[in-house]
Amino acid sequence: MKNNTNVIDLENIETIYEGERTPVIRDVSLKVKSTEFIAIIGPNGAGKTTLLETINGLLPYTSGQGFVFGKMISKHRSEIRKNIGYVLQNFEIDPLAPFLCKDIVMSGRSGKIGMFRFATKEDWEEVWYSMGLVGMIDFAQRSIGKLSGGEFQKILIARALAQEPEILLLDEPFSNLDFSSRKQIEILLNRINDKHKITTVMVSHDLSFVPSKCKRVIVMDKGKIIMDGKKDWILTSDTINKIFHNGKGL
Ligand SMILES: Nc1ncnc2c1ncn2[C@@H]1O[C@H](COP(=O)(O)OP(=O)(O)O)[C@@H](O)[C@H]1O
Ligand SMILES: [Mg+2]
Repeated sequence: MKNNTNVIDLENIETIYEGERTPVIRDVSLKVKSTEFIAIIGPNGAGKTTLLETINGLLPYTSGQGFVFGKMISKHRSEIRKNIGYVLQNFEIDPLAPFLCKDIVMSGRSGKIGMFRFATKEDWEEVWYSMGLVGMIDFAQRSIGKLSGGEFQKILIARALAQEPEILLLDEPFSNLDFSSRKQIEILLNRINDKHKITTVMVSHDLSFVPSKCKRVIVMDKGKIIMDGKKDWILTSDTINKIFHNGKGL
């Protein structure tokens, strides 16, 4: 896609969970250009995960219009999802599960492989490439349950990259990590966006870790987008200070 194309284009989107009455996100309009790196920040419960899942077609929207790669989300969900790498928050894995890191990364290719064929040499090449990109090649044969939080997050990012996505959606990629791991993930996200030109959308409830290459910040509160602009301007604004109790986060 060309640099000036909106890969994500939402207009007045509203999403209601099944069985609920009140929408969790309301009147959300958002355009994201190809190769942009944006951070959506907001307190817990603001609707950030819901927004990611709406973009991804995992949750149907109940009003408004949504397009990803120029295709209507409600009609092309599975096709859209194939080109979106989604790094879930708190992706849990049984520490005793008999999976090796390379298998977890390969599972990112399941959408590409489908049900009727086995992984080929090319699939494995993509797995090694993605593991190399996140600096985790040496962990290929390691059990997934034997990783630190930071290593695990890198494997999840490699898993999303193995899918060869055009868009990477990351839900709280820095949560539960120590400072040094956060720094490493930040460098990695910067590189993925900058060198590999993957459109990157991350959400976080923490103001203090917006990666340096991310220049645009969107603020969500109570299901709405309340600010959208240049990072430096947003992070120093009064509104953000109010929402985040003087910048300390919630
Ligand atoms: N499966 C669900 N069913 C009903 N309500 C939900 C569900 N998941 C989340 N919510 C509600 O939607 C709101 C926004 O949640 P979420 O998108 O997870 O916020 P955030 O990611 O910003 O913390 C919260 O009030 C939450 O309780
Ligand atoms: Mg969330």
